Formats: sequence, structure tokens, C-alpha cells
Amino acid sequence: MMTLLANSPNELRSICELPTGSALPRAARFLADLVREPVFLGSQILPLLEEAEYADGWYVARRYDAPDGAYSLRVFVWPAGTGTKIHDHSSWGAYACALGSVLEERFDRTDDGSRPEYARLRKAWQLSWSPEDGASTVLPADGGIHRVGNPGESPAVSVHLYGPRLEDVDGRDYDPSRDYVCDRS
Ligand SMILES: [Fe+2]
Repeated sequence: MMTLLANSPNELRSICELPTGSALPRAARFLADLVREPVFLGSQILPLLEEAEYADGWYVARRYDAPDGAYSLRVFVWPAGTGTKIHDHSSWGAYACALGSVLEERFDRTDDGSRPEYARLRKAWQLSWSPEDGASTVLPADGGIHRVGNPGESPAVSVHLYGPRLEDVDGRDYDPSRDYVCDRS
């Protein structure tokens, strides 16, 4: 990942220093371009395919964090049939699929947030993302409640960029089966 970023740290930093509304479209463009670069795909993504065949769950295969926390760039591997729980992040985020396709589900919160550890969710939409589809963007906290997974039969790989964390916690995990939410450390 360090090699990949040899020409990118300044661009990533300039993106992540912007206000959220300006940073998100820039982050989306950066990732959409990145996942279509043959050198990036050949050196950083395709080598992950073989190990993905033997993995039980999804995982972060590569990660580069700015030393001061200004951004975090991560490559996720999604073996067939894997996916996250419903969650949010305390930073903005953007991601693009680099190989295969991933399914993103997005949720709205319908309660007012006043009850501790209580959240009532409503599914807002879902979209399947492939490398030619560009990048998805997620607002911080309950502006971006989501779940990502790979319901297909072959592995997928995606690249995610997260902006600076706006709270102490990393984000929140949701369990809509019991209207529950808790902080994720
Ligand atoms: Fe996420």
C-alpha cells in the first residue's frame, strides 16, 4: 500500500482537509479512478484473489493510516457470501469496488436518538456496485447507516477511504432485530 500511495499522500491529505460536503465528491472521484488503474489492480488487488478463496469472513487486507489520523485508506476482501453487520462510522467514508461486485444496503433512523442504546431503523435502499459504477459515499454517524457484503459466488475486493474521525468512538453497531445500537470502540 505504501508503494501505491507514493504519489497519492498529498492528494489524500488535501481531500481529507476539506469540509465533508466538499471532501466526499473528491474522495469518490479518487477511488473511482484508482480502481480502474491497471497498475493498481495488477499489483494491489489481483494478488488478493487467491487468499480470498480460503478466507471464512471478510477482512481488511491492506491499510494505510495517515500518522495524524487525517485519513485511512483500506482494501477490503469479501469472500463469497460474507458481509458486515449494520453500522456507521464517526467519519465520512467513500468506497469503490475494485473486483467483482458488492451489495450496499442503506438505512434511515426513524427514532429521535433520545433513548440510550435504542435505534429504530428503516431500510432506505440497496445498490450493487461494480468497478465501472464509480464510488459510494457515506456521511458520518446516523447520516450513513449501512451494511456491505458480497452475496455473489466469487470473491470481491473494494477500496475505502475514511476521513478524520469526528468523535472518540469509531462508530456504532446496530441490531434492528431488537432496535439496539451500541458504540464500537
Ligand atoms: Fe462501513
